[in-house]
Amino acid sequence: MSSVTVRAPATVSNVVCGFDCLGFALTEPFDEVTVSLRSQPGISIEPDAIFGLPTDPTENVAGVALAAFARAAGYDGGFEVTIRKGIKPGSGIGSSAASSCGAVFAANILLDQRFAPDELIGIAMSGEERASGSKHADNVAPCIMGGFVLVRSADPLDVVRLEHPPLWAALLHPQIEIRTAEARAMLPTQVPLADAVRNWSNLGAFVAALASGDLELLSRSMEDCIIEPARKRLIPGFDKVVAAARSAGTIGAGISGSGPSMFALCASEYDAHRTVAAMLEAFGESNIEVNTYLSPIDPEGVRIL
Ligand code: HSE
Repeated sequence: MSSVTVRAPATVSNVVCGFDCLGFALTEPFDEVTVSLRSQPGISIEPDAIFGLPTDPTENVAGVALAAFARAAGYDGGFEVTIRKGIKPGSGIGSSAASSCGAVFAANILLDQRFAPDELIGIAMSGEERASGSKHADNVAPCIMGGFVLVRSADPLDVVRLEHPPLWAALLHPQIEIRTAEARAMLPTQVPLADAVRNWSNLGAFVAALASGDLELLSRSMEDCIIEPARKRLIPGFDKVVAAARSAGTIGAGISGSGPSMFALCASEYDAHRTVAAMLEAFGESNIEVNTYLSPIDPEGVRIL
């Protein structure tokens, strides 16, 4: 095989109470990434027709991740890459992670599966680091592994795939761009101990509730007193949208990743439909266009198309 195309899913990270350490994969939307081997060294990237992403491999997250892959594999040939972005850059649903993960997952198939999934996560994180200036795995890990993933440690990497009941996500994506690096720069560097206790109590309860399927506890745990209060002013209508989702009976709602997308976790497809309608109505007064997505938690993660 000298060429392979994979689909790399969008992901919701942070999940309200798990900043930088909790994420899950979506079935929709996704990027399609095609990687081909070539004998000459170097990485060439097809221009992206819609979003105009960089074709310089040192500037494109997929190129950065593939260069890290080649170094780790001791591979001295080259790659040709085409990315069809289904996930808009700067949307808060793991666009850069999908491109990085898709590229390294495809390269790994072409080079005889040299790396295990957790090694691929570590390699794909170099693309994420290029995009955000920070080494976090809460999008990359669920994109590679599927499902819900807890990142106990990003360096050295230690990730845990979490058991969970069947769940759906409803997403509202206002068509504004928030750069992760900027959304990180505005975060507090120190937090009161009481706030830290509250957040790690919520995260522990959230993981326990996922395992037991206790949706009431899951709902109470989806609270964050550190990150969302700092970031929500970047997102028009945030409080109204979350309140509308909660009133529509969702389990919980908040910022997806660093925004601007907002997500709600739902117990069923029916609840997800009702919730996204309520979120849309609450957002409706602003003049900003939106996209919406409804998706179950994707169990598989990146895979051959
Ligand atoms: N955990 C990251 C953040 C996700 O919130 O900054 C975005 O890449």
